[in-house]
Amino acid sequence: MTLKEIKVNKPKSNFLLQLKHGIKKPLCILNEKMLDDALTEEQKNAIKEIPFLLNKEKVTMFYPGSGIDLLFPILYLNKITDAKDITIIFADQNIESETIISLMMQLTGIHAYKKKQNKIIFKFKTKKITLIIQKENVFAKLPEEILEGYDFYFERAFDLFRSSAPDFIKKAIALLNENGFLITDKKITHKYLKQISTREELKVLGFYDELGIYEKVTK
Ligand SMILES: C[S@@+](CC[C@H](N)C(=O)[O-])C[C@H]1O[C@@H](n2cnc3c(N)ncnc32)[C@H](O)[C@@H]1O
Repeated sequence: MTLKEIKVNKPKSNFLLQLKHGIKKPLCILNEKMLDDALTEEQKNAIKEIPFLLNKEKVTMFYPGSGIDLLFPILYLNKITDAKDITIIFADQNIESETIISLMMQLTGIHAYKKKQNKIIFKFKTKKITLIIQKENVFAKLPEEILEGYDFYFERAFDLFRSSAPDFIKKAIALLNENGFLITDKKITHKYLKQISTREELKVLGFYDELGIYEKVTK
């Protein structure tokens, strides 16, 4: 499965966006058309089948080994939760944060970010999305932002890597909030994970094997 070739539009000037959204709060707006153009018809239909999972005001997603797979987590989040305030932590030890940020800007038409903190904040539909991008070995160090708990774990083609560090997934599941979700393209068994049934169509949304969604239930 590959994404269709993406045409990149020239981003609007920073000044114009700031005028539109107020100088104090220059939130950028994700170019929905570019996102739409990146998907095949089959994928667009499959998006409608993504189940709603979590009703919460503010959520955090952790995506270890993200590579440059930037759009799928955003598409998922738009369907699986009604949260208005979303943080996604992309962590990959081999990719410069700057590369991911620049690609994200090209894909979405957004063009401003807080460079110091490797953070991009933008608006998608009615949601505020904060991307935190880290060049880290997640087996050695988990992101600080999930240490107090988080709502979604997302991975794709990462099981081969994490199987060399089995403690990593145990820790990631331990930190996942009760009734939080793990979304993966590999079957996973764990005493606290309960699989949610999903439709076959969802596989076209970037998953190499099969899509598994699991809810963390400890009681
Ligand atoms: C097969 S790629 C998958 C990338 C992306 N998830 C996708 O589906 O397109 C696996 C990624 O995991 C990253 N990776 C492997 N071990 C890692 C580690 N310990 N910490 C962070 N990233 C890691 C690699 O750099 C690589 O980009």
